[in-house]
Amino acid sequence: MPASSPPRRISLHDLWKMKERGEKIAMVTSYDYTSAKILDEVGTPMLLVGDSLGMVVLGHESTLGVTLDNMIHHCRAVSRAAKRALIVIDLPFATYSASDLPTSLRTAGRAIAEGGAQAVKVEGGRRMAPVVGALVASGIPVMGHIGLTPQSIHLIGGYRVQGRSKEAAERLILAAQALEKAGAFAIVLELVPAELAEKISKMLSIPTIGIGAGPNCDGQVQVFHDIMGLYEEFLPKHAKRYANLAGGIKDAAKNYIEDVKAGRFPGPEHTFSGEPNATKP
Ligand code: KIV
Repeated sequence: MPASSPPRRISLHDLWKMKERGEKIAMVTSYDYTSAKILDEVGTPMLLVGDSLGMVVLGHESTLGVTLDNMIHHCRAVSRAAKRALIVIDLPFATYSASDLPTSLRTAGRAIAEGGAQAVKVEGGRRMAPVVGALVASGIPVMGHIGLTPQSIHLIGGYRVQGRSKEAAERLILAAQALEKAGAFAIVLELVPAELAEKISKMLSIPTIGIGAGPNCDGQVQVFHDIMGLYEEFLPKHAKRYANLAGGIKDAAKNYIEDVKAGRFPGPEHTFSGEPNATKP
């Protein structure tokens, strides 16, 4: 019997076709082998090794403390697990800039070659177009990210909706067009009014992937910990909780602690006998 062939990985072309067909694209963040394997197995087309790992995995207050080595470390775990999803890795804060294209290229090159991702994501509008152009010219697929760009949080002054004034909306439209022209294969729109996100999505031929940007983007991206209910204390307005993993883990951990205290665990089925060469309990 012929061995079954490995699943084909989602390509940029597949994403463009999905936009053409009006088929919505689901993307989820992933930072480790186990969650990436599960998300890949259920057919998530895009995984983002996001620098949000700074908060949800490493416990930082923002994404600013995340290093390229942190990103590569987590991306390697995700890329060992995900055989079908297109894996996008965030280039972290201050590792790329239009004023230093050689450094930007080295950063992106390491992210792809060492991390095992298929594409990188960069935050920023028109000022980022030269970076996108240089990376794409070197064969690296690039996803843009405009609207709320957490790496510029000190410039923006807070996590709030972007593009609400006429001028700000116009700037976002021009940014989206510049990134597309520079060769971005898709753009994340974060915390953007729904009508503006819809307008940009219709204007572009590449997919827009929204987070807090309404239902009319070409796809949606969410942080794994938000939608799986791993944080009980806070849920952003744009997120929907699809599970209560924190509650499930707490219950399971309490049961385990009680079993250990009461001597109910380990049972005979978890215990090895002293028989030589015994492979079973
Ligand atoms: O790092 C991240 O999780 C992101 C998403 C919010 C788009 O960039």
